[in-house]
Amino acid sequence: MGLKSTVLIDNKQAVPKEFNKISGRYDFATGLSHGYQEDLNYSASLLKLEGHEQVLDLCCGTGKSTSAVLDFIATGKVIGVDNSEGMLVEANKKFQQKSVEGNVEFQLQDAMHLNFPPNSFDAIFMAYGLRNMPDYKVCLQQLFTLLKPGGKLVIHDYSLANTWYARPLWGILGWGFIVPFCTVVSGSSRIFTYLVKSVFKFLSPHQAIELLTQVGFVNAKAYPHKYWRAIFFHAFYGEKPG
Ligand SMILES: C[S@@+](CC[C@H](N)C(=O)[O-])C[C@H]1O[C@@H](n2cnc3c(N)ncnc32)[C@H](O)[C@@H]1O
Repeated sequence: MGLKSTVLIDNKQAVPKEFNKISGRYDFATGLSHGYQEDLNYSASLLKLEGHEQVLDLCCGTGKSTSAVLDFIATGKVIGVDNSEGMLVEANKKFQQKSVEGNVEFQLQDAMHLNFPPNSFDAIFMAYGLRNMPDYKVCLQQLFTLLKPGGKLVIHDYSLANTWYARPLWGILGWGFIVPFCTVVSGSSRIFTYLVKSVFKFLSPHQAIELLTQVGFVNAKAYPHKYWRAIFFHAFYGEKPG
């Protein structure tokens, strides 16, 4: 198992296939995670949508993040993209009515090689996605291109605060609780072992703001999530200059 999880962290293109294995239990497992949907709703609110926008929900999974964005969309549209067939099956089941109404659509695509023309979206939401990308900067450059001038980006992810205790506490939470508990609930340990390792390697809030700025985003900011989650989770905001 140690070898396999090392392979996954060094071969992130294989991550969506791992999500296929747990897609049927993903909503149940995340439903047990305190504040999961509330945090997504909060991060989606940072986009300050008016309702008519075209929004990309990148790495949409089973559609929990899509639902957070859709709450702000009346006449616009959310396109959910993910590279796991299994996760998209679950998402499509949930939003049958909305997709008939034309408010939402799901597409199977690799987030590192998106098939949309430049300036396609008013806003992009990426929840628990950037951490899974083999190259964060290349992915963000692509998102910058896909946004219309003045478009907004929110990245929502685990990101360990710059305090001395965030990393040891993440180790205790990850290895002591998330891996054993989620393995029992989902029936697979590999993706959760990868989760713990990938969070250790991911950008700190300070690094994320620096990277967004390097890519060309303006007004880049980090928003910690609520309560105890503030040391583990952040939303990163940036705008493409108008
Ligand atoms: C933790 S889930 C997050 C799902 C959803 N955004 C949410 O908030 O519940 C991460 C998702 O990223 C997707 N993913 C990982 N790498 C990807 C890639 N290269 N292209 C597209 N999707 C990817 C996985 O298939 C998985 O559904």
